[in-house]
Amino acid sequence: MSELLNKHIVLGLSGGIACYKAAELCRTLVKQGATVQVVMTEAAAQFITPVTMQALSNRPVFVSQWDAREPNNMAHINLSREADLMLVAPASADFMAKLLHGRADDLLSLMCLARPVERVPLLLAPAMNREMWSHPATQRNMAQLRADGAQVLGVGQGEQACGETGDGRMLEPDELLHEVKKVFAPKPLLGKHVLVSAGPTFEAIDPVRGITNLSSGKMGFALAQAAALAGAKVTLVAGPVSLSTPYGVNRTNVRSALEMHAAVMSALPQADVFIATAAVADWRPAQAATQKIKKDGSGQMPALNWIENPDILADAAATELARSGKLFCVGFAAESHDVLAHAQAKLVRKKVPLIVGNIGSETFGADDNALLLVDAQGADEWPRAPKTELAQRLVAEIAKRIQRS
Ligand code: C5P
Repeated sequence: MSELLNKHIVLGLSGGIACYKAAELCRTLVKQGATVQVVMTEAAAQFITPVTMQALSNRPVFVSQWDAREPNNMAHINLSREADLMLVAPASADFMAKLLHGRADDLLSLMCLARPVERVPLLLAPAMNREMWSHPATQRNMAQLRADGAQVLGVGQGEQACGETGDGRMLEPDELLHEVKKVFAPKPLLGKHVLVSAGPTFEAIDPVRGITNLSSGKMGFALAQAAALAGAKVTLVAGPVSLSTPYGVNRTNVRSALEMHAAVMSALPQADVFIATAAVADWRPAQAATQKIKKDGSGQMPALNWIENPDILADAAATELARSGKLFCVGFAAESHDVLAHAQAKLVRKKVPLIVGNIGSETFGADDNALLLVDAQGADEWPRAPKTELAQRLVAEIAKRIQRS
């Protein structure tokens, strides 16, 4: 289901230490089903060899515009006409300055100039030292390149190869993959805001203990990523999980059900869709002890008073936004048995238009899952598949439903 299947990508490398990341990116693109034609500047070939890039792309690499392998000796025309997309990663400050002027004194810049602008998008992934990045000349050049139709991507922040710390690191290969996929992906959620709750909650008993559950957050994170790919602005409210934030997603971390409730409710007024995948604890200790509870020799665990947590999904579905049809709420039901009956009961109890049922023990922590979609009309069984794929399918389904409503 990859957007990149049979897509032909020209991956251009200009000179910068971030060339090492382009090797991983090339491999990732090929794994996703794309064909990759690597074109390097001479400076790029100082950082990583064409041999490496040829081995990873399984194609001869082009460096020079005088390359006689092309029968008509017009590599710049042939290679740019074949492309579905051109991505220059890394795009050095010098390379972008050159592009800005429409200069074309090497094969890669020649190809950027010669590409059919209407049909072949050009993505530039800048990579440079923080001073070079923040220099007015670089910022001015990037603004003009955008105005000329290139998509100039952002940069990462952190420690740089030169030893300094700041903005200017090239985006990571998986982030660049997301940007490339986004070009080809259908965007049925463009202009929409999707709110996702994910992961478990943790209810403190004392400063060092609490109760939680085995939810890994993978399904919710996959949904957040898929919604971003579908063009939505995404807010992810995450319980304690060890997953990295999906690229392009705005994340708020919470711990307890009460914190999750507050974070969801404050984000809700901006949302068009709320997908509640979080496995929220049903109860919490009425009072968390301020000091560690010690054994008292009685052989018994001290009794705890439990009170019920608010039902975040039901509260969201009860808002005026949801009742007026402006907010579309989707719940998950992780069950141990009778998924259909429990999901149907939840549909009614929580007053939501769609419940997605699954078997808790078969989904918690797993990379794949099987789903049962339950609405007022009936049920639809989705067979076991990777969560990333199910998430894309579910996002497309939600988009269809909100367009209808
Ligand atoms: O009632 P139950 O917890 O089984 O319902 C599951 C659905 O309700 C999930 O979508 C879950 O995220 C949501 N939920 C919630 N707040 C709770 C409990 C569950 O939003 N306190």
